Amino acid sequence: MEIKPPVLTIDGPGGSGKGTVGQRLAWKFGWEFLDSGALYRLVGLSATNKSIAFDDVEAITKLALHLDAQFAVREGVHGAESITLLEDQDVTAVLRTESCASAASQVAQYQMVRDALLERQRAFRVEPGLVADGRDMGTTVFPDAQLKVFLTASAEIRAERRFKQLKGKGVDANLAAILADICARDERDKNRSVSPLIPADDAIIIDTSDLSVDDVELRVLNLAESTFQQELIAE
Ligand code: C5P
Repeated sequence: MEIKPPVLTIDGPGGSGKGTVGQRLAWKFGWEFLDSGALYRLVGLSATNKSIAFDDVEAITKLALHLDAQFAVREGVHGAESITLLEDQDVTAVLRTESCASAASQVAQYQMVRDALLERQRAFRVEPGLVADGRDMGTTVFPDAQLKVFLTASAEIRAERRFKQLKGKGVDANLAAILADICARDERDKNRSVSPLIPADDAIIIDTSDLSVDDVELRVLNLAESTFQQELIAE
């Protein structure tokens, strides 16, 4: 039987802390990191740039299949930082905007678009291991993952986190508008017919509402250390 590299999946809604925790653990383990949301954001951004309607499923599927995107690391003022390129353009900052998130969740509704990104996501599963962050990592993309975590937090708490993050960056932000965006995206992600935002049956659910990012990281780290004892010692 083929032995596949180990995978830790971290799913959940936006603002649950999964991206930060996933990235930190991947770094700690020396594993690959998949930010699957970035792929959907890139498809949404590319459609916007090319003036393709989000419901033109065939054209969006073609974009997804031929997406010219690269994830790289560069030396920034605060040390190494990850950057994302779309057709050789640095789109790291624009990718994080709420309009990109909204575009992503609209194109992500379609089975054909999701299928077009499936193999690209699975290709991240390489030795010594992978931490995969998204909505359907544990249910659809890596159903055989050895450890599946699902992070939740109330919409209000997630909106507040986003508000503070933007304020911290000096961006003018409106808490009520952020909360409305988060709720609209949650509704679309939970209610779509393909790969909706739901925990896998065998996922461990952690409510992060009253936890700091460090607390969440520690909890997932403890789970990972007991699940992947052999793999982590081997590094
Ligand atoms: O995680 P992030 O906020 O970057 O995801 C942006 C959007 O992409 C989500 O709201 C969701 O609609 C879509 N997405 C998805 N499946 C994933 C990751 C993201 O449908 N695995």
